Amino acid sequence: MNWSALGFDYYKTEINARSTFDGEKWSELVYTDDEYIKMHISTTCLHYGLQAFEGMKAFRGVDGKVRLFRPEENARRMQASARKLCLPEPPVELFVEACREIVRRNEKFIPPYGSGATLYLRPMLIGTHVGLGVKRSPEAMLIVYCSPVGPYFKGGMKTINVVIDRVQDRAAPRGTGDVKVGGNYAASIFSGTKAHTEGYSNVLYVDAAEHRYVEECGAANFFGIKDNTYVTPKSPSILPSITNKSLRELAAHLGMKVEERPIPVEELSTFVEAGACGTAAVISPIASIFDLDSGERVSYGNEVGATCLKLYNALQDIQYGRSEDIFGWTEVVIE
Ligand code: PLP
Ligand code: COI
Repeated sequence: MNWSALGFDYYKTEINARSTFDGEKWSELVYTDDEYIKMHISTTCLHYGLQAFEGMKAFRGVDGKVRLFRPEENARRMQASARKLCLPEPPVELFVEACREIVRRNEKFIPPYGSGATLYLRPMLIGTHVGLGVKRSPEAMLIVYCSPVGPYFKGGMKTINVVIDRVQDRAAPRGTGDVKVGGNYAASIFSGTKAHTEGYSNVLYVDAAEHRYVEECGAANFFGIKDNTYVTPKSPSILPSITNKSLRELAAHLGMKVEERPIPVEELSTFVEAGACGTAAVISPIASIFDLDSGERVSYGNEVGATCLKLYNALQDIQYGRSEDIFGWTEVVIE
């Protein structure tokens, strides 16, 4: 297995976990090597987007132990997604237990320490009600599967070029942008594809109401750095990233100021560094942001900035067991 050559893609592993909600209770977890689900053609998740998902990673540490990073946070975010779509909420303990077991039962697919690859876990929740009308699904299925992955953006910790393209709004202020549901991603495919075709790694979305404030960078949150301050957007239509939350805590711990507030597009040129952050992206420092409407380009340079690197190392040191986990963020699942 050439771990270092892995991209961010699906790679077949052995076992996935499932639990079904029949309208009253969640079943015991069932483990299977079947990669398929058989479902009725009129199942609601296939028609009306009644589904949610999560993304998290298991890290093989410097000490050989395998750690999950803040899995309860993902469990609670899936509950928030479920609440917004009126889907049954998987209990935190059921969710986390499925994640632990999937890591253990697929141990041979966990990339070795130092390879740059990790085991990505994809928990998903689907509404399984069979019907035709647009209404809530009282029945659901939770599935957790995994795949070894390399870096999300080709090249790993390398700077990326992004574009502000107002051709498509990803999420509206009172829509579903603050939860992790497929519809948000469906609403980003057109502009994302256009950006890739034009040579950008991603779209930096702006708010749907005024098209003036920075929101998110594709499937990752955004942050800017200036005056020893970590600045990240506050908006009702961005996903509350667990990586961003962790970076805010790390930045404060490292003596930086932290601000969560609206960021007007004009402010981008005042940052000395900027980055995209998320489970898949970790930190992807931004080299440049091109605004298609104004024709203006903000450049932070092709070199990885010192603050991005410091935050990246502080986060990964905890995830890989290289530094003491003073925040209690990791859970060892394989000793
Ligand atoms: N924003 C979006 C739209 C995402 O899909 C993700 C990925 O999960 C993130 C942000 C980053 O969130 P997290 O750090 O919890 O992975
Ligand atoms: C993640 O960072 O875990 C994500 O979910 C990104 C993904 C949509 C590819």
